[in-house]
Amino acid sequence: MKTTLQISISKTKQSRLQETDFENLVFGKSISDHMFVADYKNGEWTDLRIEPYAPLMLYPANSTLHYGQAIFEGMKAYKNEAGEILLFRADANQKRLNESAVRMCIPEVPAEIFMEGLMTLLDLDRDWIPNKPGYSLYIRPFIFATDDYLGVRPSETYKFMIFTCPVGNYYSKPVSVKVEQHYTRAAEGGTGFAKAAGNYAGSLYPALLAQKQGYDQLLWTDAKTHENIEESGTMNVMFMINDTLITAPTHTGTILKGITRDSVIQLAKEMGYVVEERFLKVSELEDALKNGSIQEAFGTGTAATIAHIAKINIKGKDYELPEKPEYAFSNQVLKKLDDIKYGKVADSRGWIVKV
Ligand code: COI
Repeated sequence: MKTTLQISISKTKQSRLQETDFENLVFGKSISDHMFVADYKNGEWTDLRIEPYAPLMLYPANSTLHYGQAIFEGMKAYKNEAGEILLFRADANQKRLNESAVRMCIPEVPAEIFMEGLMTLLDLDRDWIPNKPGYSLYIRPFIFATDDYLGVRPSETYKFMIFTCPVGNYYSKPVSVKVEQHYTRAAEGGTGFAKAAGNYAGSLYPALLAQKQGYDQLLWTDAKTHENIEESGTMNVMFMINDTLITAPTHTGTILKGITRDSVIQLAKEMGYVVEERFLKVSELEDALKNGSIQEAFGTGTAATIAHIAKINIKGKDYELPEKPEYAFSNQVLKKLDDIKYGKVADSRGWIVKV
């Protein structure tokens, strides 16, 4: 790997690799040995470095702790059979991080700092990348404000960091979801499209209420009418109704522009499916569940990959999805995606970068 930037590396004296149980990985619990850090001060990103993963020191007046000026990304690296590291659509994550940054008044991170920091980190922690089907290294880049100041204004200093963790599936079985028609995740003109920390904090309480009723996640609806399905808390959602794949469009600015979402749309079109990026009405979903025209419903996301939806609650009534253990479309598209990510087929779309 060639790098052009000065990145100083301080290695851990005590790797945690041996004590990590790769057979029983819990998503986000086992963190790899090192992290990449860059500081923003005096108008530029400086002091690029890799350090052992360790706690941070923050002042209590740190502005992120009070006003939530923080954004993040989620992406994954895989190992192919030859043990090479394959990074999936990292350029798309880098661009999305900067789109979130603009909305949250955070300085953008230049592509070369993002990519070279990430590649150096992956190279150093390459032994943390699982080489089993279904497993990967989850990568969490994030930026947060670091000013020690209580005034409400954009911070003048920030940290950009990346750490990684070996993971299996986020959801281990098909999920149950509840259509949320009271609380709102995102309104037009708001921050819904950004991967902003506060979007997730605001969704926790309504999701907890649904979890207490036995559902895994919510299906959020639009803020104005609560009649249009938008997304789920941890993933975009898609519905196969008859032979048409339907998923919410992103032009309203209320929906995260998922990279898995975009990949599935591209593959579905190549597979000959009609794809409609439009809002599915709650009433339309209810009709499709009643008359059996719904073939499959699933979430898409980096962490979730493809998460089958087994049950949907609408206005207090549970609908089981048709028993389709073969999940004809979603399993096929998942296999296509996995073949690309694990390097089993040649990458004709420029989605893979070798580290
Ligand atoms: C991802 O899929 O990468 C996400 O960021 C979802 C996360 C909140 C688990």
